[in-house]
Amino acid sequence: MAQWPSGQGNALPRALVLGATGHIGAHVVRALLAEGCSVRAASHTPRYLSVLDGLPVERIQVDVEAAEGLRAAMEGCEWVFYAAGYYPRRHARRAQAVARGVDAVRGVMRQAQAARALRVVFTSSAATIRQVPGRLANESDAERWPLTEWRSLYATVKIAMEQEALRWAQAGAPVIVVNPSLCIGEYDAHRFSGRAVLAFAKYRLPVYLEHHFNAVYTGDVGVGHVRAAQQGRVGERYLLTGRNLSVKEFADLVARIAGVAAPRWRLPRPAALAIAAVSELAAAATRTEPFLPRHAVHTSHGGQCLDGTKAVRELGLPQTPIEEAIRRAVAWFRQYGIL
Ligand SMILES: NC(=O)c1ccc[n+]([C@@H]2O[C@H](COP(=O)([O-])OP(=O)(O)OC[C@H]3O[C@@H](n4cnc5c(N)ncnc54)[C@H](OP(=O)(O)O)[C@@H]3O)[C@@H](O)[C@H]2O)c1
Repeated sequence: MAQWPSGQGNALPRALVLGATGHIGAHVVRALLAEGCSVRAASHTPRYLSVLDGLPVERIQVDVEAAEGLRAAMEGCEWVFYAAGYYPRRHARRAQAVARGVDAVRGVMRQAQAARALRVVFTSSAATIRQVPGRLANESDAERWPLTEWRSLYATVKIAMEQEALRWAQAGAPVIVVNPSLCIGEYDAHRFSGRAVLAFAKYRLPVYLEHHFNAVYTGDVGVGHVRAAQQGRVGERYLLTGRNLSVKEFADLVARIAGVAAPRWRLPRPAALAIAAVSELAAAATRTEPFLPRHAVHTSHGGQCLDGTKAVRELGLPQTPIEEAIRRAVAWFRQYGIL
């Protein structure tokens, strides 16, 4: 790998956000603007551009898997935020999905190096953190590659992509990894994590799974990305987390805020997998997204409570109450006509 330039550059750098129309990217864009940065906002398609309505950003379209467009997108940008999601399709072969994700990371890193970017913030996931019985898991509990235990396709691909990003950091690239937990908030047009809210607020799911997880306000995650570029340590990973809570607590909050009935029955995992399979079939038939994808059940298996104090301490990650995050998500889904 050729030498990467060092330093942090100007106080107000120009930033490229890959995945700017995504749930996380839309918040990263707003957090950058709040800091006074100029922003180049890259989406894959024009489909969800409305989440950037009214913002003073340069809009472009780029495929992170195509080097040519990336080179032009990065020109003149000192910070690169890689929040473009690669969500492997559930039928994808594991090895192919991993190779595709890792190749995309390599392509972005190569082009960031050529563009002499001073910081690359890579959006990974809390799914790359091992579940640790008996205590809260933190950044030191990361999975290693190759995996020794079975993980969902989503987690497997995320772990492989994160390992590739960290390899670049070890070789001198100014890469910082951030690992959000389940993001709840507005601008969730793709509804990857918003499905957790919609399952109870829209589909009125009468059942819930018995486990705990961590949910975070996406606005805090956006700020966390920017702080990672400003003051994060290169080569480190930072969990961006909010509150650890049970699915029942979360569902009750959603139901209260949305003004609908709360779920009453606890669902055993085999039944959850069966419902997820049916929801995927229905989604395939209607060309919509399943409200409960199987990987969500797999990923949540055993639960995952997290200790995110490193980002609070080192990055000053804000900690908006999860009730407020749900309130904002519900209001936005209503305004957007989804709920
Ligand atoms: N949401 C969560 O709770 C959560 C939690 C932890 C980690 N993450 C990770 O964070 C990342 C972003 O998640 P998200 O929820 O914000 O995703 P999202 O809402 O699904 O948005 C994905 C974004 O990436 C863009 N994109 C997709 N494929 C692309 C491609 N080939 N080239 C360029 N851009 C592409 C999309 O553009 P279009 O709008 O044009 O499709 C969109 O802007 C993902 O890697 C995800 O795994 C998410």
